[in-house]
Amino acid sequence: VMNCTVRPCMVKDCKAIFQFIQVKALREDGFGARPQYYCYVAELPPEQKNKKGRCVIVGYILSSFTYSSWKGRNVYVDNLYVQPEFRGQKIGTRLLTNAAKMALSQGCVQLRMHVANWKEYEKGFLVSLGSENLTAKEGWTLFHFEEDALRRLAAGSNMRGKSGSPVGMGQGEGKDENGRSQTGH
Ligand SMILES: CC(C)(COP(=O)(O)OP(=O)(O)OC[C@H]1O[C@@H](n2cnc3c(N)ncnc32)[C@H](O)[C@@H]1OP(=O)(O)O)[C@@H](O)C(=O)NCCC(=O)NCCS
Repeated sequence: VMNCTVRPCMVKDCKAIFQFIQVKALREDGFGARPQYYCYVAELPPEQKNKKGRCVIVGYILSSFTYSSWKGRNVYVDNLYVQPEFRGQKIGTRLLTNAAKMALSQGCVQLRMHVANWKEYEKGFLVSLGSENLTAKEGWTLFHFEEDALRRLAAGSNMRGKSGSPVGMGQGEGKDENGRSQTGH
């Protein structure tokens, strides 16, 4: 078991997390009056500082609150990551345990996350900690509207049907601000 500390992510840690994910908005979105996410980092003890004398961050967990019509308030873990050379030393367990404590203290009754189907180690990890595999159990499939599709959807131009006309848009139906038809593509 690795002797590391799990503590809230600070602005100065964003750089360390940038090594793992390329999200430039991390700094703006996570701090300030209305944080969009919550992040905890796993940090090695001070005696294991790097060459530059800085404490080493070997993993993190990033989550946000969501709402389920069935379950109420819940936590969605967007990312749980431990650097490959530090895996199998219970760091992932400690990060997720910390997220579970945080979830309960905030009145959540569920913690959700998704993992690629081919990631056997990660799936085993989650099941070993007591979670249910909803794909295996109930056949759930995950859907994303990526930005392009999201824009088309919002503009009503993804509509199927006879005319392709978006429903309920009132005057100027199916036209963008230049009067071009947005239907049929
Ligand atoms: C998922 C991840 C965070 C786990 O981190 P970790 O620090 O290695 O996890 P831990 O050491 O706390 O736990 C590993 C434990 O999972 C369990 N486990 C792993 N694979 C298992 C399997 N196939 N069957 C049963 N249990 C399994 C074991 O209990 C194992 O501990 P042990 O072998 O020491 O008893 C890490 O693998 C990772 O960063 N993966 C890449 C990122 C990712 O895909 N994340 C998706 C979200 S899970």
